[in-house]
Amino acid sequence: MKLFSSVNDVTNINELVAEGLKLKQNPYTFQDLGKNKTIGLVFLNPSLRTRLSTQKAALNLGMNVIVLNMDKEGWALELQDGAIMNGGSVEHIKEAAAVMGEYCDIIGIRSFPGLKDRDEDYSESIFNKFVKYCGVPVVSLESATRHPLQSLADLITIEELKTKPRPKVVLTWAPHVKALPQAVPNSFAEWMCKADVDFVIAHPKGYELNTDFTNGATITNNQDEALQDADFIYVKNWSAYEPYGQVLPGNEDWMLTLDKLHPTNDAKVMHCLPVRRNVELSDEILDSDSSIVIHEAGNRVWAAQAVLKQMLHNL
Ligand code: CP
Repeated sequence: MKLFSSVNDVTNINELVAEGLKLKQNPYTFQDLGKNKTIGLVFLNPSLRTRLSTQKAALNLGMNVIVLNMDKEGWALELQDGAIMNGGSVEHIKEAAAVMGEYCDIIGIRSFPGLKDRDEDYSESIFNKFVKYCGVPVVSLESATRHPLQSLADLITIEELKTKPRPKVVLTWAPHVKALPQAVPNSFAEWMCKADVDFVIAHPKGYELNTDFTNGATITNNQDEALQDADFIYVKNWSAYEPYGQVLPGNEDWMLTLDKLHPTNDAKVMHCLPVRRNVELSDEILDSDSSIVIHEAGNRVWAAQAVLKQMLHNL
């Protein structure tokens, strides 16, 4: 694997999930694989889980790790081709990415969408320019439209905790105080549509996702109906795709509460974190045995380690 930016970069998702679970049992089996190899983790936006879990995964494989908080510590990047750089930007992405490629064998990059220009965000221009100019294998640490390491960890979690061969998995929209990207729900939908699960998406009218990511899912505006017999509930806010990046008024009653779990099959509740308590998810759920959000975050390490292991094999 030379690129990990979506589920489409994975030859066999079942094998990758199994690899993650195997690494969880024996984290240090491949400690020599990454010897004398360096991964650079480049963040254009904040992170807790992705930064620490990918760093730990790389260390478990014996790699050296460099972290650059580009948004705080790097030069202001110019992204436009042909720009006359007589303003605030100091370094063009062409040089910045190419130089990072000189220091690293693999690069991880996080670049959120601006949520202003849908075509710009959905063209993945920042992520794709890094891939083009750095010249080494690249792993997405969340791009404008996808978060594949999160989705792989989510699938590993479902596979690990499911109690039937084909569980019902519900992605349900949740309220939030600000406009959030569609990357996590897009990505989760894309992975679930390829997994052996019954997959339902529930959201208020107006929060339809781009259908490129939801092909094969059952989609409803009725949350109660969706939750019936659910085995896993994935809670996530996202802003509207049309009008792009907007928060629509109302829908506060979409917050998941304990009483909404009654018609489920003792559902386990997931969230990628960070979570706004008592806005997206109630305290009573997060502090109950129904919540598996910490377990899910723990599995971020094995997802990252499975992906980096495949990349190291191909260096
Ligand atoms: N879920 C997730 O990606 O968390 P961070 O933004 O903290 O990395």
